[in-house]
Amino acid sequence: MSNIKIGVITVSDRASAGIYEDISGQSIINTLREYLTNDWTAEYRLVPDEIDEISNAIIELCDQQNCNLIVTTGGTGPAKRDITPEATEKVCHKIMHGFGEEMRRASLKFVPTAILSRQIACIRESSNSSLIINLPGKPKAIRECLDAVFPAVPYCIDLIGGYKLETNESVIKAFRPKN
Ligand code: MTE
Repeated sequence: MSNIKIGVITVSDRASAGIYEDISGQSIINTLREYLTNDWTAEYRLVPDEIDEISNAIIELCDQQNCNLIVTTGGTGPAKRDITPEATEKVCHKIMHGFGEEMRRASLKFVPTAILSRQIACIRESSNSSLIINLPGKPKAIRECLDAVFPAVPYCIDLIGGYKLETNESVIKAFRPKN
């Protein structure tokens, strides 16, 4: 079995209650399967829009499962129950502002409501450090956002001492500056 684990957290009251099937989490996994040439496994969690459940899932995937990359979907908007960015920031040490800026900028080419997403990316520092990236809940938004920022993800994970991600360059090209 591969020792590269990537955390995938779907945040949704309704999917976690079994009212509908979670297709967003699967959409993250499918996108990363297309991007990455590494052998990796997904550590998948499905939680309701509750700050402690989201934060605890991030902590567990980072500290216990040793994921260096954790991607969340859902709960980034302005509605009363949307709390994913706050739950992420609460358990992280550094906000990577460029990720949120670039995901919104790129998404505005597709929908004017892209500005409604408060999505962020952060670093949690522990004996295993993680990059956590928030994505909106719509499957379509997942691909639009990941395409925009993923080229910088492998190098970011290098810099936090994580696993070496390699991409299929015909799908997405990782950028690593030459020293
Ligand atoms: N970003 C992209 N790329 N594509 C989209 O369709 N939808 C927006 C926004 N970001 C969207 C997007 C909408 S309509 C909302 S309400 C917010 O993401 C928040 O979504 P969430 O609450 O499901 O996280």
